[in-house]
Amino acid sequence: MLITFEGIDGAGKSTQVKKLKKHLTENNHEVLVLREPGGTLVAEKIRDILLENKHDITPIGELLLFSASRAELVQQTILPALDNRAVVILDRFYDSTTAYQGYGRGLDLDILQSINTIASCGLVPDITFYLDISPEDALIRKFSEKSIPLAFEENELDRMESSGLDFYQRVREGYMKLVEHNDRFVLLNACDDPLALHHRILNHIVPLFSADRTQ
Ligand code: TYD
Repeated sequence: MLITFEGIDGAGKSTQVKKLKKHLTENNHEVLVLREPGGTLVAEKIRDILLENKHDITPIGELLLFSASRAELVQQTILPALDNRAVVILDRFYDSTTAYQGYGRGLDLDILQSINTIASCGLVPDITFYLDISPEDALIRKFSEKSIPLAFEENELDRMESSGLDFYQRVREGYMKLVEHNDRFVLLNACDDPLALHHRILNHIVPLFSADRTQ
């Protein structure tokens, strides 16, 4: 089973990923948690290039680097784990590419869809949790600040995070379009209590496992 988490930076995905992993492991599932970009030797090197602030990368270059990292992770790690009946929890997958490079950077969505399919070997998540939060709240949360985001030091942000609030607004709108048009998405309010969110996530996951057993 492939479970993915999506949301803009600071939405609290990793907290939910950890809670879900703990729950599934305690219930005797083999669980593998991975995050994109990265996860293999080559993909981690690509991650460094993508996130280090010293590189100036074109939108197409960025798209292809994220996709190259994904191709490595899917073929070397995700597909073998799924073949062994592991539950794979993925912190970001190709929906991030659609939201960030498509809606955020403005790249052609049809081209992007083809590249997403190639990079992921046609793999589609069983369920995708989208944690929705405004870019302003996400920034404030990320830096645990009570006041305005503009107080942040530029150099504390990675290359993607330096893209500005307008960019993140477009990314958020992109995610909302994906939620509207894909049944596998579950929309969650990232500002809700983390434990309540965890229970809501479990409510969606449990029936999937029951259905899986009957197949
Ligand atoms: P990361 O530090 O992993 O952020 P987060 O904790 O928010 O997931 O950095 C990944 C960054 O890369 C994040 O800003 C989202 C971006 N990204 C894309 O733009 N396209 C993609 O396809 C993926 C997977 C990530």
